Formats: sequence, C-alpha cells, structure tokens
Amino acid sequence: MASHPRIAILGGTGKEGSGLALRWARAGYPIAIGSRDPERARHTVERLRPLASSAELVGLSNAEAAAWGTVVVIAVPYEGHAAILQALRDTLARKLIVDIVVPLDPNNPRRYAPPPDGSATAEAQRILGPEAPVVGAFHNISYLHLHNLGETPECDVLVVGDHHEAKAQVIALAEAIGFTAYDAGPLANAPIVEGLTAVLIGLNMRYKARGVGIRITGIPGKKQEPVQTNRS
Ligand SMILES: NC(=O)c1ccc[n+]([C@@H]2O[C@H](COP(=O)([O-])OP(=O)(O)OC[C@H]3O[C@@H](n4cnc5c(N)ncnc54)[C@H](OP(=O)(O)O)[C@@H]3O)[C@@H](O)[C@H]2O)c1
Repeated sequence: MASHPRIAILGGTGKEGSGLALRWARAGYPIAIGSRDPERARHTVERLRPLASSAELVGLSNAEAAAWGTVVVIAVPYEGHAAILQALRDTLARKLIVDIVVPLDPNNPRRYAPPPDGSATAEAQRILGPEAPVVGAFHNISYLHLHNLGETPECDVLVVGDHHEAKAQVIALAEAIGFTAYDAGPLANAPIVEGLTAVLIGLNMRYKARGVGIRITGIPGKKQEPVQTNRS
C-alpha cells in the first residue's frame, strides 16, 4: 500500500484547519500544523493529540510546514491569502496546493467578495504560476462537522481546478475522511463554489441553523456509504 502523503496546513491553528488536521490525523496521515507563531502551532498539536494519539502530528511555523508537506492546505483568512502565497512561493512550487479560502465581505459574511482574479483559488494559481497544481476544495464544509467526531459528514465537497490529477488526489483526500467529493469543474468555476459559502452562511442566519451544507444528488455510484451492493 502506498504511504500517505504528508499534509501541512498553513493557518492550521484555526477552526477549519485544525478540524481538517484532526480528521486526517485520525485517518493516518502525517500532519504539520503551521502558524505565524510556532508555539501556537505546538499548542494546537497538544490539543489535538489526545484525539489522534497514534498520528504523526507536528507544530511548525508556516514556512517550515510548507517545506515539510507534500500537500499544503491554505487555511488562513482571505486577508492573509495573497501574502502567505507570495512569501512562500518558492517553497510551494511543485507541491499539491489545496486552497480552502473564501473571500467574504468583512462587513457582511453573506456576501461573496471575490478578488480581481475572480476567486481566491484563481489568485493562488496566478501567484504560484499556471503549472502549479492548485485545487480549490472544502469551501462549503463548516468547521463544526470536522470537530464533531461523533458525526459522519452529510455534506459534500466540491473540488475545482485546472489540474486533473491534482483534483483526483484531493477527492481521495476528502473521501479518506468520510466525505463524498466531486470534480466540480475547472478553475473558472471557483467563484461559484467559493460563493456558495456565502449562500450557506446566509441560510445559517436566516434559518437559525449551524453548519448548513450541500449534498449533490443524482450521480449513481458516487456516495461513500452505504457500501455499493449493486454488483450481483
Ligand atoms: N470556519 C469555517 O467553517 C470555514 C469553512 C470553509 C472554509 N473556510 C475558510 O478557511 C479559512 C480559515 O477559516 P477559519 O474559520 O479556520 O479561520 P480562523 O480560525 O479565523 O483563522 C485561521 C488561522 O489563520 C491564521 N491567520 C489569521 N489571520 C491571518 C493573516 N492575516 N495572515 C496569515 N494567517 C492568519 C491564524 O493562525 P496563527 O495566528 O496561528 O498564524 C488562525 O488561527 C478561511 O479562509 C475561510 O474562508 C472556513
């Protein structure tokens, strides 16, 4: 069996990044939590370790984590997005980049506020260059579903980007932690997938709900569970 790739999560001290770290660590992936302050990263590691006792889990600076990982997840708020990619551009070259960042209007999180590139994912692709395998994913998954370990996630992951092999790897990473994940098309679709998060936040507010998500229907044989039994 092929060994699991090392996953570094920049901004992994936060709500979404630490939740992904927890889920992947429990699935056997080696994880580095990255932070602007390595002490904060180590603190997050100590918080997660009892829940993922057998995992390789380290706390590093964002730069160290980016160098350590073969997969690098960008999990910082949008205001830090371009700066972290620019600062770590050389380190991130040739890594598989998973961008989960959603640019929202700081005054109204129900509004998507895309950057001039059209989406955060497209901004990352421009900064890292067209050859870099940049994939947008997990935008529509509330951190609540990642931290509640008693829950099997009901919501689906949409994966966008122009690099097909990279998208297939990210779909496998999402499925390894219990999600059903779909190739949602090219980088040009990233504004739709990122923008959907603003719709979900609006639904949370309007219906006084928490962690509203999406589920894709009508694609036979795609759901993770129950296990497919249609081969007689
Ligand atoms: N929360 C969700 O449910 C959710 C769902 C889907 C996608 N997302 C996306 O995931 C990203 C992270 O969301 P979150 O809720 O986890 O955010 P968060 O908890 O507010 O922040 C994540 C981490 O980013 C670092 N950070 C904060 N400001 C920064 C800056 N200006 N530059 C660099 N690093 C900075 C902090 O780590 P250090 O201080 O340790 O460096 C922080 O712990 C966002 O882009 C969000 O749109 C979130």
